[in-house]
Amino acid sequence: MLLTQRSTLTQFLIEERRRFPASGGDFNALILDVALACKGIARAVAYGELGGVMGNYAAEDGGSVNVQGETQKKLDVVSNDVFMQRTEWSGHLAGMASEEMELPYQIPAQYPRGKYLLVFDPLDGSSNIDVNVSVGSIFSILRAPQAVIDSGRDVVEADFLQPGASQMAAGYALYGPTTMLILSVGNGVAGFTLDPNLGEFMLTHPNMRIPQDTHEFAINASNSRFWEAPVKRYVDECLAGKTGPRAKDFNMRWIASMVAEAHRILMRGGVFLYPRDSKDASKPGRLRLLYEANPVGFLMEQAGGRASTGEKPMLGVQPSSLHQRIGLVFGSKNEVERIERYHAEPAPQESVEPLFSPRSLFRD
Ligand code: AHG
Ligand code: MN
Ligand code: MN
Repeated sequence: MLLTQRSTLTQFLIEERRRFPASGGDFNALILDVALACKGIARAVAYGELGGVMGNYAAEDGGSVNVQGETQKKLDVVSNDVFMQRTEWSGHLAGMASEEMELPYQIPAQYPRGKYLLVFDPLDGSSNIDVNVSVGSIFSILRAPQAVIDSGRDVVEADFLQPGASQMAAGYALYGPTTMLILSVGNGVAGFTLDPNLGEFMLTHPNMRIPQDTHEFAINASNSRFWEAPVKRYVDECLAGKTGPRAKDFNMRWIASMVAEAHRILMRGGVFLYPRDSKDASKPGRLRLLYEANPVGFLMEQAGGRASTGEKPMLGVQPSSLHQRIGLVFGSKNEVERIERYHAEPAPQESVEPLFSPRSLFRD
């Protein structure tokens, strides 16, 4: 398709903004700054070993283990810096928070403060960086509490503890064979592909919709002994395929970059589970509510899919801390609802066909 036939991200945002004639340009400008940060990270990722940003962030350079207890990769730190530098100066933000920073980040005194909060996972799937598998960045834009906007005071953790339903925008960039930006400003989901020559995100996937049904699931099966019964039941039924209670075969995928799994699911359906499990009592789930589950959940719901804790809608959860972890299930609506039903039902063994139940005559 000719260049003239595609919208740029800028054009898309300006056209979206016409729905709100009273709005200023801050929101769009902020999203464009985030998009520029993503382009910068895409370039660093693309250079790989040539850019000198592979591997762990050495202790002598100030790197160590982040607030999650995970060893930081150089690219985690570089990506975090890129996000901050591209967005802190503009006067659109009251503050930000990131996976890589224990505390909220204050807009430096030399810059004006604005009305939005930016929350991000600068590099998702960073264990995949050194093996050249897709990674991405995830972001969420919240409105700062009115008291913060009025006073211009420093932000505190409590300012960020807003349920996912109140996100103004959410999205991710995927640094795969092509770089893409997937965005929702609360009016559906749109996908943009980076034209590397123009340096522009071009609208290539308007109005992305997730099929309601699927035969593809994604879960880290090495954790199966720690799963709760409803999750075990769901996966067992998928694995049983045509001869099981679901009477159809399922396929499984696990990339270990949630952002890449989310993208596959947005494109062709599927269900992703990183459920709460008993692996580590201090971690109720692997993924983080504010900068992983909520933004991806917002995109899923905006695309006609569903996002859940396994028990209830993700976007209704009241966060309790900045780096809170949570069980996450998202994707094709009918599958996510099924998993929620399994959690609501009393005893898994009683509700499945006896012949195929884990306690049937044919199993020990
Ligand atoms: P991050 O790189 O931001 O820490 O996130 C990685 C997450 C997520 O992207 C992925 O789905 C999951 O961790 C992979 O976990 P396992 O290593 O348990 O498979
Ligand atoms: Mn992540
Ligand atoms: Mn990360």
